[in-house]
Amino acid sequence: MRRALQLAALASGHTSPNPLVGAVLLDRQDVLVGEGFHARAGAPHAEVMALAQAGERARGGTLVVTLEPCCHHGRTPPCSDAVIRAGIGRVVIAMGDPNPRVNGGGIAALRAAGVQVISGVCSAEARELNAAFLHRMATGRPLGILKWAMGIDGRIALTNGASQWISGPAARQWVHGLRRRCDAVIVGGGTVRADDPLLTSRGQRQPEPLRVVLSRSLDLPTEARLWDQCAAPTLVAHGVEAPPRARFKLDELGVERLLLPNCTPTALLQALAQRGCNQVLWECGPVLAAAALGDGCVQRIAAVIAPKVMGGTPARTPVGDLGFTAMSQVPSWRSQDPHKLGSDLLWELNQR
Ligand SMILES: NC(=O)c1ccc[n+]([C@@H]2O[C@H](COP(=O)([O-])OP(=O)(O)OC[C@H]3O[C@@H](n4cnc5c(N)ncnc54)[C@H](OP(=O)(O)O)[C@@H]3O)[C@@H](O)[C@H]2O)c1
Ligand SMILES: [Zn+2]
Repeated sequence: MRRALQLAALASGHTSPNPLVGAVLLDRQDVLVGEGFHARAGAPHAEVMALAQAGERARGGTLVVTLEPCCHHGRTPPCSDAVIRAGIGRVVIAMGDPNPRVNGGGIAALRAAGVQVISGVCSAEARELNAAFLHRMATGRPLGILKWAMGIDGRIALTNGASQWISGPAARQWVHGLRRRCDAVIVGGGTVRADDPLLTSRGQRQPEPLRVVLSRSLDLPTEARLWDQCAAPTLVAHGVEAPPRARFKLDELGVERLLLPNCTPTALLQALAQRGCNQVLWECGPVLAAAALGDGCVQRIAAVIAPKVMGGTPARTPVGDLGFTAMSQVPSWRSQDPHKLGSDLLWELNQR
């Protein structure tokens, strides 16, 4: 199962809206005869790849797979049928598939055909591997990661708004890798106006993650690197208050617009889930970060801390007002051990 989990992770960031899945096939003597993983949506499922590799040697063997085999006709035919047809004797599964079209149906189909099924092997690791997919299945929204870079004194920009670059090259490269694992990268209008960001993985993910701007006013610059969509697509989501003139300007630039009747982080994430996003990265400033946290749209935090004292009492900090009035109201996040990225420190937190 550990090998199957490793295989599944090879496609990290490429399978949305589908989960990551890996499979290993053993013959009757427990000799490895096939391996596979789901490379991207529309590509063959892991089980089918492993079965194809094994051919006749699969008969009577054991299939080890990180997620319950599917039992529905999606873009590809059901894997449960393929497993039964190949004469597999035993299937070992890490966890059930919560997708309502599967949800135990794959296991039931296998058992009904006389295949022995063992479930729950390495289930914690499998749940972590597909945390984003599972979060979308449970909530209808992609999993949100909020990332910021700050000086040791907690500032994310100088008093005049300048913030490039707080962190060093190693940390910035790590952020490109983080974007590779995300289906969309989101900023607010404030960050577009201040930083003119590029927001790509610098080619690490193909296609690049969708770059999303959330803006109520649509008071956005006429020229911005986000409007050049040669490298990556851009979507601007806005509310009903956005003036027609500003909407027209974006249409002329060929930038896709999405009107949200409710211009909130929740409404945006629901729309992105419908477009197949499992995981999104919030790279916004304090105003939108506070709104996203307040809306429950952030499950993980990645803070890059640079050994710099930036100073300035009015200078911005990572998150705006959250409305707390007593420390007892402030939730505590589960933290991993911080580690060094060049001369910076990376500290990652998970919601409890
Ligand atoms: N160091 C870092 O990691 C980092 C990262 C990002 C930004 N920054 C810095 O942060 C500063 C910008 O901060 P910011 O807070 O203005 O940027 P922001 O959070 O990216 O943008 C705020 C904007 O989001 C839009 N928005 C749309 N719907 C919203 C909603 N429901 N709730 C809240 N906002 C909504 C509004 O745009 P409209 O005004 O267009 O309507 C709002 O003004 C800059 O100095 C930048 O350099 C630093
Ligand atoms: Zn399948």
